[in-house]
Amino acid sequence: MNAPNDKIVRRYDDIEEEDNHLPNWWLFILFSTIVFMFGYWFVYHTLKLLPSPPVEYANEIDALKKARNAANPMSDDALASLAKDPAIVAEGKQVFASTCASCHGPEAAGLVGPNLTDNYWLHGANPTDIAKSMTDGYPEKGMPSWGPILGAEKVRKVTAFILSIRNTNVAGGKAPQGDPVN
Ligand code: HEC
Repeated sequence: MNAPNDKIVRRYDDIEEEDNHLPNWWLFILFSTIVFMFGYWFVYHTLKLLPSPPVEYANEIDALKKARNAANPMSDDALASLAKDPAIVAEGKQVFASTCASCHGPEAAGLVGPNLTDNYWLHGANPTDIAKSMTDGYPEKGMPSWGPILGAEKVRKVTAFILSIRNTNVAGGKAPQGDPVN
């Protein structure tokens, strides 16, 4: 039975149930969200036309890190990220071969200077510690200061190389000197 106002009213056991039409504005929102859902799904997940929020977030963090490393290229983070770049490590290795191998050995396993492939360090093993050892040296102990000779950029590259070989424990290396480092 149709009530006025286009309402359908049903009555069972004296309980009245009204079946109202949903208002158009409400239906409009419902169907818009369904259409939006498909659009979103295709753009972000199927066709990947735009980076999804997690990817966007990771990109932003990457850009921030790069900017921070560029602003402070001698920081632990900046040096550690150089050590992951094979091209930089290879350049550092060349400088090491011509400049450092005479005292630290061709494989950095130690001669006059300590073994740089173990995980025992006299002056610390953080990236900044290694760069500092190299830059300032310990002239009274026979380690020249390389900062003025090599310049900051080469110091960074050689530091990257040393970080890449640290704790690789080349066979037949010189006995450990200094303290073990985690
Ligand atoms: C003339 C010899 C000599 C040369 C060349 C030399 N070193 Fe050294 N190096 C030493 C000695 C000796 C020590 C140990 C200093 C000490 O006992 O405090 C040392 C220490 C170090 C340390 C600190 C190790 C630790 O256990 O903390 C680092 C890092 C290092 N050298 C890197 C280099 C790099 C990189 C080069 C080349 C750019 C280089 N050295 C060239 C002799 C040398």
